[in-house]
Amino acid sequence: MNQVVKVLQNHATVRKFDPNHTISKEVQDEIIKASKQAPSWMNGQAYSILTFQEENEKRKLIEVLNQDQENSSNAKIIESSSLFLLFCIDFSRYDLEHEGVSFENELEPLIIGTTDASLALENALVAAESFELGTCVIGGLRRVSKEIIDCLEINEFRFPLVGLAIGKPLQTAVPKPRLPEKATVFSGQNAHKKATKEEIKAYERQLQDYAKENGYTSEPWISRFTNYYKEQNYPAKTAESLKKQKLI
Ligand SMILES: Cc1cc2nc3c(=O)[nH]c(=O)nc-3n(C[C@H](O)[C@H](O)[C@H](O)COP(=O)(O)O)c2cc1C
Repeated sequence: MNQVVKVLQNHATVRKFDPNHTISKEVQDEIIKASKQAPSWMNGQAYSILTFQEENEKRKLIEVLNQDQENSSNAKIIESSSLFLLFCIDFSRYDLEHEGVSFENELEPLIIGTTDASLALENALVAAESFELGTCVIGGLRRVSKEIIDCLEINEFRFPLVGLAIGKPLQTAVPKPRLPEKATVFSGQNAHKKATKEEIKAYERQLQDYAKENGYTSEPWISRFTNYYKEQNYPAKTAESLKKQKLI
């Protein structure tokens, strides 16, 4: 197995970092360079990356996250990380408003910005893990996206989509099981096929075992999504912020 595939297949989120570790300028530059080399729609690079390293740079962001109980664990992760990258959808640099372009009622720019930013994030994640650093993607910050926009004074046409905490791991994270291939990958001729109930149940059991072995409890996999999509919290908050940023 080559090194790149090894890094990809060994991915496991790390949530405990050494708070005393600092990332060297060289490593940070390599991570950013790898991130920026990600492909993007029409080479549009519809994202920007906000970097947070020193305690004073992170302070405002952490204060905002700590005001939301559901983000307190994320605040701790970011606090102890050596580098936090906040990936924003960014349509501000084309100055399209000037040309009479509006994103109101358009879904396409959101798909493009989300895809571009996510690919850049994943490149950064893989690069960081190749340096034996730990990573944690932080999407929970969308619950306080409006507050983040205000406190960081993020300009219009820019939306803080997802963050990446990078640091020296203080835990050995074990790769989490994924759905079986037959529940995820289908021949192009079988585009109507979906996972069976048995496959999902078996996966849920596997995840419960994984949780037990790794010292935490977790509700059944499917109910997590039922609860999430029933709760109107995230969608309403995200929509409000996207409107504020003139992205919907
Ligand atoms: C878009 C996205 C947002 C995420 N947000 C959070 C988050 O806010 N906090 C957190 O601790 N983990 C977060 N994660 C990490 C996921 O929980 C994790 O990737 C998933 O459980 C699979 O575990 P693994 O990465 O260890 O394989 C996020 C992952 C993604 C892709």
